[in-house]
Amino acid sequence: MKPVSLSTLRELKSRGEKFTVLTCYDATFAQAMNGAGIEVMLVGDSLGMVLQGRDSTLPVTVSDMAYHTACVARGNSTALLMADMPFMSYSTPEEALANAATLMRAGAHLVKLEGGAWLADTVTRLMQGGIPACVHMGLTPQSVNVFGGYKVQGRGEDAGEQMLREAQALEAAGAAVLLLECVPRALAARITAALKIPVIGIGAGLDCDGQVLVVHDMLGLHTGKPARFVKNFLAVSDDGSVAGAFRAYAAEVKSGQYPAPEHGFD
Ligand code: KIV
Repeated sequence: MKPVSLSTLRELKSRGEKFTVLTCYDATFAQAMNGAGIEVMLVGDSLGMVLQGRDSTLPVTVSDMAYHTACVARGNSTALLMADMPFMSYSTPEEALANAATLMRAGAHLVKLEGGAWLADTVTRLMQGGIPACVHMGLTPQSVNVFGGYKVQGRGEDAGEQMLREAQALEAAGAAVLLLECVPRALAARITAALKIPVIGIGAGLDCDGQVLVVHDMLGLHTGKPARFVKNFLAVSDDGSVAGAFRAYAAEVKSGQYPAPEHGFD
């Protein structure tokens, strides 16, 4: 498989072909994901919860992210590697530039930040510095204390219109990718159609250009009740292996079988 770049994602979007994203935190999983043709690996700050056992992503540091980004980069040969900027590492454009540079030096190809239109200057500054940015909108877990819990965002006409306007402002500011988490399917479809840049969804319905899941979730490894958008792909792996689960996920995303209506929100 040819190495995936941002141009690959733009071409896939223009052809109406879906692409696959999974979180990844180490070299062995990166190799297995390469074998299944996963296009994008996200070194998510979800590692704070699934690897470090914390109850939110807030304690994760830039050095935690750089360590795991370097581990994934050593195992990866074909996927586009996206690394999360952790909580409070991008409160000013200057701080964002310095911390994003650390993640790029560790092997990331682009960074992801959580927020809305207030990030426009930061996104422009990063792009000018040679660092593509993905903006994560909707349910942004670093703001869980502002939301008062992990709740669907963008419900209602005003909230939906505002999210669309902010997404367009971020595209105009130079964002390379948008990620929508837990937003109503119809709103995600509208935003995806309105933007030229690729849109990745999680709990945002079938119409996004790509889908992402936390790898532990899609392997059925979670304590308590899984989120509505999670599907256990190990359970449908043809040979019962982790590699088979990645192949099943890729096949279902590409064919439009996943996410099904029951994985989304109205
Ligand atoms: O940190 C993460 O894993 C994420 C995904 C949930 C999109 O941001």
